[in-house]
Amino acid sequence: MSQSIEKKILCIVGARPNFMKIAPVIRALNNAQHSFNVRLLHTGQHYDAAMKQSFFDQLHIPEPDVDLGVGSGSHAVQTAEIMKRFEPVMDELKPDTILVVGDVNSTIACALVAVKKGVPVIHVEAGLRSGDRSMPEEINRVLTDQISDLLLTTERSAKQNLVREGVSSEKVHFVGNVMIDTLLYNLNNAVPSGDTIASCLDTERAESVGADYGLLTLHRPANVDDPVVLERLLRTLVDLSGKLPMLFPVHPRTRQCIDGAGLNQLVADSQLYLMPPQAYLNMLGLMKGARLVLTDSGGIQEETTALGVPCITLRENTERPITVEEGSNTIVGSNPEKIKSCFNDIMHSGGKAGRTPEYWDGKAAERISDVVGDWLYKK
Ligand code: UD1
Repeated sequence: MSQSIEKKILCIVGARPNFMKIAPVIRALNNAQHSFNVRLLHTGQHYDAAMKQSFFDQLHIPEPDVDLGVGSGSHAVQTAEIMKRFEPVMDELKPDTILVVGDVNSTIACALVAVKKGVPVIHVEAGLRSGDRSMPEEINRVLTDQISDLLLTTERSAKQNLVREGVSSEKVHFVGNVMIDTLLYNLNNAVPSGDTIASCLDTERAESVGADYGLLTLHRPANVDDPVVLERLLRTLVDLSGKLPMLFPVHPRTRQCIDGAGLNQLVADSQLYLMPPQAYLNMLGLMKGARLVLTDSGGIQEETTALGVPCITLRENTERPITVEEGSNTIVGSNPEKIKSCFNDIMHSGGKAGRTPEYWDGKAAERISDVVGDWLYKK
C-alpha cells in the first residue's frame, strides 16, 4: 500500500501511570520512518496538577488535542462518562487506529468505543495478569486485550497469558517496556532526593531523613479502602519507620481514606513522613536514592527493578512476575509479620539487586513504532 496517505493514530491517556508510558511512544511515532499523523486525547480521569500537569511538563508530552474532562466518579460512572464523551470525538477525528496503554478505566472505556466502531485498537502493555479478578485493573486488562488488534508486551510471559485466553499469537509482539524508556531517558535529570525532601519537610524532619530513607506508596483499594486494613498497615509502617525514616508521597484517594478513618494522629509523631504526590523527576530521584521501596503500585515494581533498588510489594500477587524472577521485587502482601521480616532482611543483607529484564533497554517505543508502521501500512 502507498504511504502517501498518513495514517492517523489517536493516542489515549487518562491517569498518572499512563503519562510516562505515552511520552516515549509519541516521540518515537513522530520520529518514525513511517509518517504518522499522531493525536493525543486525555480523558481527564486524573486532573489535579500533581497528578497530571507536572507529568506533561516534565516529560514534554504535547498538550492533548482533546480533553474529555471526565474527572472522578465510581467505576461505572467514570467508565460510562468516558465512553459517552469519546464517541463523538471518534466520529469527528476518524482515526485509523487508537493506541491505549496500561490498565486504567480510560484504557477499557476508549478501547470499547473504538472496537464497536470498527476502529482497530493497539494495546501497549498487553498480557499482564495478576490472576486476581477482584482488582479493577485486572478486569480492564483482560477485557482490553480481548478486543485489541495489536498487542504489545513488556515481558515474554505476557504472550503465554494471551494465547491461553484465546488471543491469536500473530497479534502479539514483544517490544519491551516503555515505562523504562522514560526512566532511562530522564535518569540524569532526576531531582536530587535531598532537594525534594527539603522542599516537602520542615528542617528538623528533613535532617532526620538525611540520605538514608525508605520510600512508600499506597493506593490500591484492597489496602486503603477498608479502615481496619489501612490502620494495620500504617501501624506496621510507623513501627518500621523507627528503624529507617520513611517518605510517603500520598495519592489523593489514600489521603481521603486516611482523613476519613481519622488516622492522621497515628503517623503524626512518627518518622513516617506524609508528602504530597510527587512529580515524575522528583519521584525518580526519591526512588534512586532510597535504601528500599515499599509499594502496591505496578509501575514502581518495574522502576525499582530497572534501578536495582530493593522493592517490597504490599500485595498478594503481581501481574509483573519478571520483577520478582529477575528483578529486585519481593511480594509480601499486607501481613505485618511478613512485611517486617522482609524489611529486616533487606536492612541486614542489602536485599536483591536483580538484573535488568530483556528489552528494558530504552528502545521499546522505537520497536512499537516499527511494529505499528508495518501493521498499519502493510495490512
Ligand atoms: C487509577 C487507576 C490505577 C492506577 C492509579 C494511579 C483505574 C481503575 N485505576 O486509580 O490503576 O494505579 O490511577 O494513580 O483506573 N483524585 C484526585 N485527583 C486526581 C485524580 C484522582 O483527587 O487528579 C481522587 C478522586 O477523588 C478519585 C480518587 O482520587 O475519586 C481515585 O481516582 P481514580 O482515577 O478513580 O482511581 P485511582 O485510585 O487513582
